[in-house]
Amino acid sequence: MRIDIISVVPDILKSPFEASILKRAIEKKHVEVHFHNLRDYSKNKYKQVDDYQYGGGAGMVLMPEPIDKCISQLKAERNYDEIVYLTPDGETLHQKMANSLSLKQNLILLCGHYKGIDQRVREMHITKEISIGDYVLSGGEVAAIVLSDAIIRLIPGVLNNETSALTDSFQDDLLAPPIYTRPAEYKGKKVPEVLMSGHFKKIEEWREAQALKITKQKRPDLIDEK
Ligand code: ADE
Repeated sequence: MRIDIISVVPDILKSPFEASILKRAIEKKHVEVHFHNLRDYSKNKYKQVDDYQYGGGAGMVLMPEPIDKCISQLKAERNYDEIVYLTPDGETLHQKMANSLSLKQNLILLCGHYKGIDQRVREMHITKEISIGDYVLSGGEVAAIVLSDAIIRLIPGVLNNETSALTDSFQDDLLAPPIYTRPAEYKGKKVPEVLMSGHFKKIEEWREAQALKITKQKRPDLIDEK
């Protein structure tokens, strides 16, 4: 997979890809991540990429030309499965969306900044609009990192058996059951006996029952949706 991330502050984006699972995914060539600075596509000598809103109102808007130039250049080089704009008014990110995006070859992630981007360039190029939750961030960069992480860890081969994504919360519309490691007793609190029984079927049944119980308690909406 290849992910191209376009931003006015690409420096914010880099460090999450330089550690742990994302770093390993890049080293093992499961994914290539490329950063593009929108200012490099400004024809203005001050590298201006934003301007005032027509009609008035607080907040600057990212100009159409640098975004159009950057995306057009990338599109001329390869086909993109999706051109995603990270924005609070997009569809809220969920696990199924991450699952489906993890199967794609080439993605562009466009980070908004200030008030957002000019509507015309949105209509020209954007194929999918994603929000990471009902709150407003100072830019789409953090959202692009969240989305990339959610996608990359699902690419086959990125996670090993110990960190398998198959047992994650949300993969079956349930939250994950409680997990324990050594010691068997900590400050008087014991690990549930069934987990130490070695009885695989009983362990599975316990985990399923716990997942259901916790989901009913914490996120009943996930069960009601079914
Ligand atoms: N940009 C600003 N806020 C955002 C959000 N909640 N999700 C995605 N992009 C954003």
